[in-house]
Amino acid sequence: MRILHISAECYPAAKAGGLGDVVGALPKYQKDAAVVIPKYHTKWIQSQSFEEVFRGHVRIHQGSVSFTIQKLLSVTLGFDLYVVDIPTKYDRPGVYLDINGYGFGDEIERSLSFQQAVLQWVQKFDQKPAVLHCHDHHTGLVPFLINHCPEFESLKNTPTVFTIHNGEYHGAFSWQKLFLLPYFKSEARGILDWKNTINPLAAAIKCAWKVTTVSPNYMKELTQSANGLEWLLRGEYSKSQGILNGIDNQVWDPKKDPLLSVHLKKSIPKFKEANKKILQDRFDIAKGLPIFTFIGRLAREKGADLLPEMINHFLANGRKAAFIILGTGNKNLMNRLERMKHHYRPYVDVALEYNEGLAHQLYAGSDFILMPSRVEPCGLNQLYAMRYGSVPIVRKIGGLADTVPDIGGEDGYGFNFTHFSKEDAALALFRAADFHNDQKSFKALQKKIMSLDFSWEKSAETYENLYSEIIR
Ligand code: GLC
Repeated sequence: MRILHISAECYPAAKAGGLGDVVGALPKYQKDAAVVIPKYHTKWIQSQSFEEVFRGHVRIHQGSVSFTIQKLLSVTLGFDLYVVDIPTKYDRPGVYLDINGYGFGDEIERSLSFQQAVLQWVQKFDQKPAVLHCHDHHTGLVPFLINHCPEFESLKNTPTVFTIHNGEYHGAFSWQKLFLLPYFKSEARGILDWKNTINPLAAAIKCAWKVTTVSPNYMKELTQSANGLEWLLRGEYSKSQGILNGIDNQVWDPKKDPLLSVHLKKSIPKFKEANKKILQDRFDIAKGLPIFTFIGRLAREKGADLLPEMINHFLANGRKAAFIILGTGNKNLMNRLERMKHHYRPYVDVALEYNEGLAHQLYAGSDFILMPSRVEPCGLNQLYAMRYGSVPIVRKIGGLADTVPDIGGEDGYGFNFTHFSKEDAALALFRAADFHNDQKSFKALQKKIMSLDFSWEKSAETYENLYSEIIR
């Protein structure tokens, strides 16, 4: 194998967010790439067969944790998938959270055992991968371990790439937990440290040969706002690059998507109308209005808390539209949205759940997709939305600014707002609703966004160029 992606998520085996989508798609577009993730007890993993390829154990403090590396037997993914089976650590259904929605108490032991297991296995390869490509803080210690643990010295010349999908989470923990780490050269202590904690994200940014993030604009933003790592990112800027994510056009294909009951044939308006009708039947919303939809985690980062206010502001101005919200997350917000549904019937309806199939249906049947994010490294929902003919209304930040230029400018095709305020967001809604009134222009816009190409090919080529700078 040439490229080994090391990650906590990979669709369809284990997905909690966009990281899973990216790691499940990018390798398909790369020559000889494989993925390794922990062996969770997700439904998908449990429905598959694996073959053991390596066996070992990791020392964590005074204990020894046994693991096996197993290869997926099915070849349908388009790349080789390996899972690290670490009984007692990862044999749970949730990727990060238990069934009550709480984080696991042994996250540090989990990620340390996973990362070391992977390195032990890779060390034994006759031919080492050309690049170890790590994703987010869960795998952030890999470049450090390679550089500073005698145990993994044989990997010292193996180039590493570290991709930041989300700079808000660092995986940082207290120095009191130092005893959980394997032996490393004491002079490397400072490399683990950021603001008096052991910070895996910071260590990765320091140690990886190349650092990337998932859009050029987010790369710039990180130097200004990275939850405390701004200085570090400024310092390491010369080895860093923003590479826009793509989407998997095989999964997101309006002509074939098995999660849609009506597919795109020749006519886009017919496709949109039929799918909109399905939403109008399923949800309690008035007909004859544009549908504005939010899909995603009900989290601060995604700006979900702005939804009630922006919708209030819009409706209180005497305007009419149908709003649908799909997602789970913050409990208070869920309660608030549930109340809004009753208060604003038939203009607001919600599905407070995680539902991949319904998400696809919403992309196909909506007129607009709302993304009021506070932070958005790349954002994939706007890309899925456009592929299915829903116009994105986005806050102009991160990857949203890179992928959705405002319709007011040259070649623009979406609606932007800048300030995180109900007034600014509602203004974008007003503009969008007005635009929707002119059906001829709106249909032309739908046609345009559906023809845009956000497939992985281009990004995969950019990654390839980056690898070639470090492959010997
Ligand atoms: C994270 C980011 C999102 C990005 C995704 C994949 O989920 O929040 O913006 O698209 O990772 O890189």
